[in-house]
Amino acid sequence: MARVLVTRHLPDGGLEPLAHAGHELVTRTDDVPFTHAELIAAAAEVDAIVCLLTDRIDREVLEAAASAGRLKVVANVAVGYDNIDVRAAADLGIAVCNTPGVLDETTADLAFLLILAASRLAHDAEADLRGGRWKGWGIMQYLGRDVHAATLGLVGFGRIGQAVARRAAGFGMNVLHHTRHDTGITGWVGDLDRMLGEADVVSLHVPLTDATRHLIGERELGLMRPTSVLVNTARGPVVDEAALAAALEAGTIFAAGLDVFEREPEVHPALLAAPRTVMLPHVGSATTATRTRMATVASEGARAVLAGEQPPNLVSP
Ligand code: GLV
Repeated sequence: MARVLVTRHLPDGGLEPLAHAGHELVTRTDDVPFTHAELIAAAAEVDAIVCLLTDRIDREVLEAAASAGRLKVVANVAVGYDNIDVRAAADLGIAVCNTPGVLDETTADLAFLLILAASRLAHDAEADLRGGRWKGWGIMQYLGRDVHAATLGLVGFGRIGQAVARRAAGFGMNVLHHTRHDTGITGWVGDLDRMLGEADVVSLHVPLTDATRHLIGERELGLMRPTSVLVNTARGPVVDEAALAAALEAGTIFAAGLDVFEREPEVHPALLAAPRTVMLPHVGSATTATRTRMATVASEGARAVLAGEQPPNLVSP
C-alpha cells in the first residue's frame, strides 16, 4: 500500500482507482491550497502526488521528495502541465502524468462560447442591461461581428484545436490552422504572421512552453485586423496581457475572449478595464462529468505507476 498526497478536494469518485487499489489517501479537510513550503514537506512523505495546475511542483519540491527516496509519480489533474518541472522530474526518475483526451470537447465548447460571446459583444451588452443602462432596442447598438462564414485561425491543432474546428464547420467558417510542422490537412498555414493577418477570429490552442510564452504580443496583435477577435483558452502567458489591453483600447483588434490569464488569479488591471472583452475564470474544462473524468484519469495514471505499469498518460520533457 502506498501513500498518496491529494492536494485538493476532487470530484466524487475521482480517486476511485487509487482507493480501489487500497492506497492510503492523504487529503486536506480544509481544501486550502498547499503553500510551497508545505508542498516541499508533504512531498517527502508520500509515494505519489495527485495535484492541480495551481500547485507549483518545481525542482525544489521534486528534489526534496527525491532525497527522501519515496516519490514515484506526480499526476496532474489537467492536460497542461506547465506547473510541473517535467525536466527535473525526469532527471530524478519521477514519473509525471496528465489528463489528455478527456477534456477536449468540453474545452472546445468553452472556446466556442468565447468566440461567439466576444464577436457579438455579449459581455458589454449584458453589463449594460444589468447595470440599468439599456434604454431600449436600438439599431446601432452592440454591433458585433458575424461568426458564421468568418475565417477562423487556430494556433495549435492538437485535440482541442481540432475539436474547435469541428464546431466551426457547423457555423460555415473557413478554418485555417497554424502548427510548426505541416499537418497535411487542408487549411494548414506555416506562417503564423500570415494567418494572423487573414483570420477574423484567432483562437489559441498551444501548450505553454518557452517557445509559446508571449507568442501573441504587440507585434502579432498589430498583424491582426481591426475587425478581428482573439480567444485564449490555452494558457495566459501565451498572450502578452498588457499588449492585448492596449490593442483593445486602441481598437487595433475588435474584441477578446479570455479564459486564462498571465498571473492567475490576478488579471492585469488594464485588461479588466479594456473594452469589448469577455473574461471567464479558467473554466474551460469545468463540467461535472469532465472534471470527474480528469480526476479519474490522473488517479489511474498514478495507480499504474505505483503498480509498476506504464500508463498511456505519461508525459516527458
Ligand atoms: C486546464 O487548463 C487543463 O490544462 O486541464
